[in-house]
Amino acid sequence: MHHLEDRGFIHPRSSEITPKSVWLDRRRLLQGLAAGTAGLLAARPAAAQALPVAPPGKLAPLPGARSSVSGAYVADKPTSYRDITHYNNYYEFGTDKSDPSQNAGTLRTRPWTVAVEGAVKKPGTYDIDALLKLAPMEERIYRLRCVEAWSMVVPWVGYSLAELIRRVEPTGNAKFVQFVTLADPKQMPGIASRVLDWPYVEGLRMDEAMHPLTLLTFGLYGEVLPNQDGAPLRVIVPWKYGFKSGKSIVKIRFVEQQPATSWNTELPNEYGFYSNVNPTVDHPRWSQATERRIGEDGLFAKRRPTLMFNGYAPQVGQLYAGMDLRKYF
Ligand code: MTE
Repeated sequence: MHHLEDRGFIHPRSSEITPKSVWLDRRRLLQGLAAGTAGLLAARPAAAQALPVAPPGKLAPLPGARSSVSGAYVADKPTSYRDITHYNNYYEFGTDKSDPSQNAGTLRTRPWTVAVEGAVKKPGTYDIDALLKLAPMEERIYRLRCVEAWSMVVPWVGYSLAELIRRVEPTGNAKFVQFVTLADPKQMPGIASRVLDWPYVEGLRMDEAMHPLTLLTFGLYGEVLPNQDGAPLRVIVPWKYGFKSGKSIVKIRFVEQQPATSWNTELPNEYGFYSNVNPTVDHPRWSQATERRIGEDGLFAKRRPTLMFNGYAPQVGQLYAGMDLRKYF
């Protein structure tokens, strides 16, 4: 039997943070020394940020054109590729932040298909290579805010999920979309732990799924997704807590009733269906008012105030007009 603390999201204790903070701070100091005064010029205005971002040269290139979707670029500096790929939540590969980068090498991303089922006129099975060509790839720089009160800024590559949804022609009965992710004990050592009721599932209301900011994501930093970040495809919903962004999707179901979602099933009074980033609704075990930006957690780094809808209120606020967001958390 595992303890509750082994299952839910854990508020990081300062004793756990400090060693990494010291290490990161030291690393930044060394980088600063190496770069000389160049580091002082690093705080450029957002407009000067060249896009697309430079690929790290680790995986197959997946360039994306600059997106015209409103809100597709936050001005914040992207988190380093190293941090994005070594500080992960992907429980199928273990519950520690470093487990996915160490264990996800066993994930096979070819062949890979995504079944589209339910209330659509054109159900079917899509090959990953067909999905890669379905619509033009775009680069978007989104904030990713975890319910654990840390955040990152990630240059994702993909296209609006709406591009796929339109092509499969949902019927009037399609009120919600459920995302089912891979659960293969042969490839995923964490499945044996029963830390969650596999497969990991997530869901969105239809208008949330159709919103142009909801990204069907195939890459980051101009390259295909590393396994630990959800290869070969995942969803990113930038105004919701990170756990809404299911990784390594194998099935997309269009349904009439609000579908089951993994964290809501596991701990229903801690994780609601909507899970919009909302600094005024605390998690029962910790505050959601501020966040720690990964890569900025040096000794003198301040926590950032968390923004309503993770800063995407101008784009998505109207989706929730008239809803009591304390009840629909
Ligand atoms: N998807 C699957 N299949 N399994 C998971 O454990 N974790 C979620 C989400 N998607 C998770 C998942 C959580 S809690 C977060 S915060 C994000 O993925 C983390 O994405 P990242 O590791 O790319 O930052």
